Amino acid sequence: MKSDLESDLNSAKKYIYVFINNMQISKISYQPFFGTSYRKVYKSDKPYLLDHEASTCCFKNDYLWNKSFDFFIDKYRFIDNVNVYSLASSDCSEALSIAMILDTKLGSESEKYFPIYAVDSDEGVLENIRNGFIDLAPDDEVRINHYTNNNLNKYLRRTSYSYLSGRIGDTDNRKLLTRFIINPELLKKIKVICDDVNTYTDSLPAKNNLIFSRNMWVYMHPKQNEYLHKLSNIADENSFLSIGNYDYLMCPLTIKNTEGFSMHPELINVYDKSGSNYFDDLRLFTAAQMKDY
Ligand SMILES: C[S@@+](CC[C@H](N)C(=O)[O-])C[C@H]1O[C@@H](n2cnc3c(N)ncnc32)[C@H](O)[C@@H]1O
Repeated sequence: MKSDLESDLNSAKKYIYVFINNMQISKISYQPFFGTSYRKVYKSDKPYLLDHEASTCCFKNDYLWNKSFDFFIDKYRFIDNVNVYSLASSDCSEALSIAMILDTKLGSESEKYFPIYAVDSDEGVLENIRNGFIDLAPDDEVRINHYTNNNLNKYLRRTSYSYLSGRIGDTDNRKLLTRFIINPELLKKIKVICDDVNTYTDSLPAKNNLIFSRNMWVYMHPKQNEYLHKLSNIADENSFLSIGNYDYLMCPLTIKNTEGFSMHPELINVYDKSGSNYFDDLRLFTAAQMKDY
């Protein structure tokens, strides 16, 4: 007789299988409208239908920042140079978060991770960082303080310029954004590049790559498989690919197409080339259970 735990696990696996396959069935093209940090994404076959609204922020909640970076730091402790990429960086909130957490955890020993290469195809969202600014909402400030041991002031200086963001989604919600000047020491840890990530990736070295390509896969349609293949080509056993939570819907990292990546069993949204059999387990499970559906 099966234990409760075993049957719970099987129910969870069934759920994941159905979820992943349902997501793959819907083939939708997307037409994002660029130029703002709150980016509306419409279905291209029905351009009047808002599909979702994407935005960025510092230390986005869909990631285990402390746990993941403790793991990366340990993994790279004997490696002299690590290449960190924020691919589809938006206004560089993510690249700044990575720089701040590395500096907080490692101090001067963090130098081997810098500069972080922040790449976005939309010059409009890069304007602030090019001028040394970042616009933050109050919740960004809370998270920055949380992950830097209350050292926001070490990295960022508040200005008196505040404004209300545009409406978020189809709601009346707006955020009060305040402009902060980025400390030059922090700013020089980030190299800002305006490029298409799909072409930029062609020129990257194939080892020690810490790749963040998060909350952006919807925009890669219909080149998601091509882009994932390129990321796989530049990922060795010392490389990691991090995606975002919304990416589960569009990123082809599923049981059907892994490109050699394995889901890290503990770090949410982190993939590596460890050859873990997590996906294989799912595959075996689904082969055995198919008759149930
Ligand atoms: C929602 S933001 C993600 C920001 C950040 N990665 C995060 O998780 O917070 C998506 C960004 O992807 C960028 N983008 C979309 N397609 C791109 C492409 N092919 N090459 C580079 N950037 C792209 C957009 O300009 C936008 O700034």
